[in-house]
Amino acid sequence: MTLDSVVKAIERFNFLDGMASSLAGVVGKSVRPRMVRNLLSGTYIGHPLHPVLSDIPIGAWTMAAFLDLAGGKVSEPAADALVAVGIAAAIPTAAAGLNDWSDTEGKPRRIGMFHALVNGSALCFYVGSVFARRFGSRDLGKALGLAGFGLVTFGGFLGGHLIYADAVNVNKTADRTGPGKWTSIIDHSGLSDGGHRMVEVGGVSVLLHRSGDTIEAIDALCSHMGGPLEEGTIENGCVTCPWHGSTFRLADGSIVRGPATRPQPAYEVRTSEGQIQIRRAG
Ligand code: FES
Repeated sequence: MTLDSVVKAIERFNFLDGMASSLAGVVGKSVRPRMVRNLLSGTYIGHPLHPVLSDIPIGAWTMAAFLDLAGGKVSEPAADALVAVGIAAAIPTAAAGLNDWSDTEGKPRRIGMFHALVNGSALCFYVGSVFARRFGSRDLGKALGLAGFGLVTFGGFLGGHLIYADAVNVNKTADRTGPGKWTSIIDHSGLSDGGHRMVEVGGVSVLLHRSGDTIEAIDALCSHMGGPLEEGTIENGCVTCPWHGSTFRLADGSIVRGPATRPQPAYEVRTSEGQIQIRRAG
């Protein structure tokens, strides 16, 4: 309950909004190239990259804290190496996290900003710890490392809150299966050549697009953060989400450009007795 109160207090830190908005704009411009966006988002591995990378500094610094507290003199070189490994891994981890954070809004953006400030402070403590160890002040190096460990633990808690409580960067289509059997949805005449529309069926919203005799259908809710794909831009057989620019192939829902890391559920389409019918692909 105490930690929950802390999180609620941070969510009210509206003084962070101006700084957060400026920083998000800078990050957004920096990650605009498709390859950078896909890489930092985790699109290439089908999973957000930031939580994968964050295991490395957290693991290294946890072991360094253990060795500093209980390892004795013989483990000092190992503790020093682990602190350095954590610092090296923290840089790409932070880059991936900033990319994810730049897509957030409101309370999650404030929590994410604070998460970054706490972890950035932890990184500074660890850099200080490396210098202290290097220049013979081992006790100071250990103290700075343990302070950094406390901060990074709290930062990890805030990161977990963003995922498990605020559902940031979780697949928004995970439980959307749509009809498994051929289901009529609209008259064929209700979809003009070159046109698209959203249809509700079986508890899900489906985006239909027609090009000549070919009709394609994918889930209309963007897997990234739930953006409305029916309001997106359609060109070259792809739809681009209006919220953060994820681009999906209409033919099979596969990802052309992140930040999405999971493809859109796709549907098979046929026309029967003047009706457009769909069923879940695969
Ligand atoms: S909701 Fe973020 S790209 Fe669609």
